[in-house]
Amino acid sequence: MIPAIAYGGDYNPEQWPSAKVDEDIALMREAGVNLVTVGVFSWAVLQPQPGVFDFGWLDIVMDKLHAAGIAVDLATATASPPPWLGHLHPDTLPVNRDGVRLGYGSRQQFNPSSATYLREALVMVRALAERYAKHPALKMWHINNEYGCHVHESFDAESAEAFRQWLKDRYTTVEEVNRVWGTRFWSQQYSDWAEFVPPAAMPTLANPNMMTDWNRFCSDALLACYKAEKAVLDELTPGIPTTTNFMGAFAWVDGWKWAADIDIISNDSYPDPSDPRAAREFAFESDLMRSLGGGKPFIQLEQTTSAVQWRARNAVKRPGQYKLWSLQAVARGADGICQFQWRQSASGAETFHSGMVPHAGKASRTWAEVVELGSALSSVSAVAGGRVEAQAAIVWDWESAWAQRNAIGPVEIEPLTIAKSWHATFFESGIATDFLHPDHDLGKYKLIVVPSLFQLSETFAAALAQAAEQGAHVVVGALTGALNADGHAQLGGYLGPLAPLLGVRVVDYAPIGVTPQPTEIEAGGALDGPDLDAVYEPISSLVKTPATRASVPLVAADGSGLGGNAIGWVEELEILDGAGVLVKATFDSLDLPGAPAVTRRPHGQGVAWYVGTNPDARGRGDIITAVLAEAGITAVLPVQVPGVEAVQRGSVLFLLNHGDVDAVVPQLSGTILYHGAPPAPAGQVTGQPAGGAVLSGGSVTVAARNAVVLQL
Ligand code: GLA
Repeated sequence: MIPAIAYGGDYNPEQWPSAKVDEDIALMREAGVNLVTVGVFSWAVLQPQPGVFDFGWLDIVMDKLHAAGIAVDLATATASPPPWLGHLHPDTLPVNRDGVRLGYGSRQQFNPSSATYLREALVMVRALAERYAKHPALKMWHINNEYGCHVHESFDAESAEAFRQWLKDRYTTVEEVNRVWGTRFWSQQYSDWAEFVPPAAMPTLANPNMMTDWNRFCSDALLACYKAEKAVLDELTPGIPTTTNFMGAFAWVDGWKWAADIDIISNDSYPDPSDPRAAREFAFESDLMRSLGGGKPFIQLEQTTSAVQWRARNAVKRPGQYKLWSLQAVARGADGICQFQWRQSASGAETFHSGMVPHAGKASRTWAEVVELGSALSSVSAVAGGRVEAQAAIVWDWESAWAQRNAIGPVEIEPLTIAKSWHATFFESGIATDFLHPDHDLGKYKLIVVPSLFQLSETFAAALAQAAEQGAHVVVGALTGALNADGHAQLGGYLGPLAPLLGVRVVDYAPIGVTPQPTEIEAGGALDGPDLDAVYEPISSLVKTPATRASVPLVAADGSGLGGNAIGWVEELEILDGAGVLVKATFDSLDLPGAPAVTRRPHGQGVAWYVGTNPDARGRGDIITAVLAEAGITAVLPVQVPGVEAVQRGSVLFLLNHGDVDAVVPQLSGTILYHGAPPAPAGQVTGQPAGGAVLSGGSVTVAARNAVVLQL
């Protein structure tokens, strides 16, 4: 069994003299570490030459960890092949879009479609599995590492052949590919399978549906690598669960498709501590991971104790943030908190990435916080296995996101940003949310938000209508249903099959925030002033360009108090039967005066809302507040306290104060499992969790950047 709540990190003892292992283990025990990921980047050490293996050091590490009661998440080491592999077999090295073969000396230099890479990777996996199958420390397999992080595609001949096969499997005939890709345009029609190649460098805009299929293929090629390793492990070590670490909603792997083959979902997350919205990021990813596992606990497999080293400027976590964000992940469904990495490296590309044991050693704030978190996690272990019950869900679909990103126009709005902004509204309002794939059962949710589903199928439109029929509130955001299931433009009005449910037809898009390209203005490339000169420019000065404003006010149409601003995007809506206009966007032109922007249409027992713009925080907040009130969904806390995120998991309530001032949370009943002491000013952590107190309708002070956890 994997310990719950697991605490630990990537342990890379091969970077250090062997004598350090005993010291490491003593420190791990001091910190309460009970799970470490070993060997993520040790292929070159484990197999220094073809056919030559050195497991001696790993045997010792596994034995010692087990003797200390520390479980091992053993990595298959295949994420970074040794130099000899690329040297002997250049075909294992990926080729980039420009035809350049990427070299070794960094990491992840493998071509996902290389048969040689896979063969050699499986030799490594088999050798590890055979050697450690019966080792009592082995509790989980960590397959590869962050698939696709640096290399998610390769443009070599082997990948081309694999892509052709993938297309044959998906479409059966060349004609069908031609139809879906729309190859009559620009004379792209294919006549034979042999003509299909990966979309490497080309003169100009690429065929969008070709690109989306390429994205699907690349995700599948990586998934095939994962599955091949898993098959060996399942055969040799049945009962030992496997994981591979996701990176949130990382663009190049379709998390929903992968999740089905992952025993324990795990995630790596590195929000930027300099961003006041960083906790939203952790919340978003945690909710996504929990949802990928169908509600089961996940493991936060990587985060860091303080700063990363790969940003231009690397903010440190402020005192308390490491523990606070860790408890946040637990609150949202993590049964394990692990970091990259145990001991901060003394050499190599990540020397300045923080670790649990920093360069400065034990006499450091980082170490004190590492020990403090170990203790905090053990105080809240009662939450392990608990479920977060959400009544609201957000639809997220990687394939639609690919289609939107690959579409050339109508606007460069990143679908993930839109999804995150709606999630942020729920985060800020204290409402739990799950994520859903369009094929999932919508039945259990009172509120379903579709932030922006560019490519929409009739099946999903029907499912949404059915959910509304049965009482759900359905909120659909702009840029939904631009494409049909084939990836072709939705004819007859965007939203297509959703139009009857919403009572809205999108006749046209009307982006705002549009300014002329400098090159289109005049020689010199810059406007010579805000106004044109009526005397010297008598023609142009009378032309209005109303779309240049990046945002326009949203005005309540019925005095309902909804407000905010529309940012960058508005649509020309035709209101159909049954829909009422709640909010209008007023432009400073006569083109779309008082145009409907937010609508509401009762349907069956439920209600369908359409938001034909990209609202700002207030706009989203007002809409969601109105919808929540109608749907009867209430926040975790009866009174929202500024700075405090409240999350209930099972019967445990987490109060997480992200703010810089202490917060008092009233009307609480339960037994305190953990009461974080205020962060000490002098670079060290003082105070012990004061658990055990019983509250009955009382209030509790949650210290700044700290947490209180209650058993309800
Ligand atoms: C990723 C990798 C780790 C490490 C960290 C650094 O998550 O999996 O090996 O490089 O990034 O942030």
